[in-house]
Amino acid sequence: MKSTQLALAALAATFSFAVAASADLPPAATKTGVTYATDIKPIFDTSCVKCHSGDKPKARLHMDTLEGVLKGTKEGKIVTAGDSANSFIIKAVAHTTTDHDSWMPPIPNKAGIKPLTPEEIGLIRAWIDQGAK
Ligand code: HEC
Repeated sequence: MKSTQLALAALAATFSFAVAASADLPPAATKTGVTYATDIKPIFDTSCVKCHSGDKPKARLHMDTLEGVLKGTKEGKIVTAGDSANSFIIKAVAHTTTDHDSWMPPIPNKAGIKPLTPEEIGLIRAWIDQGAK
């Protein structure tokens, strides 16, 4: 009995944490047919490519091509196609990672690049949810 109650309490705690975490994310845009080429590349070009392209991209992450974004960092993938809420890139730009060093673009940064807007994050979410094409 006791262990059942403990298990239920743990389950409830995990559940409310998951709900709280996704509630912090801006909602995915309702736009359909979102693609990297038309919708997403302009956002990355403005906010990410300065540090994530060329011979020595930060974290070995190339943000200037679809292939590079899908390949991810030296640590692994940052996009989980079909699941934006669990894609690391969204946690990084929406500042929901506990590690502030993962907040992107870094705050502050010498290039003066501003955080993404909720609308931009919503568009990236829609792109990932629609398969990251
Ligand atoms: C001003 C420079 C700069 C800009 C602009 C920038 N980044 Fe970064 N990024 C970094 C640095 C520095 C690191 C850390 C590199 C390391 O630790 O090896 C990093 C690391 C990352 C990581 C890996 C983080 C981790 O904890 O594993 C991701 C993902 C990332 N950036 C995504 C982005 C995205 C998406 C954008 C645009 C919205 C962006 N970055 C814009 C400098 C930048």
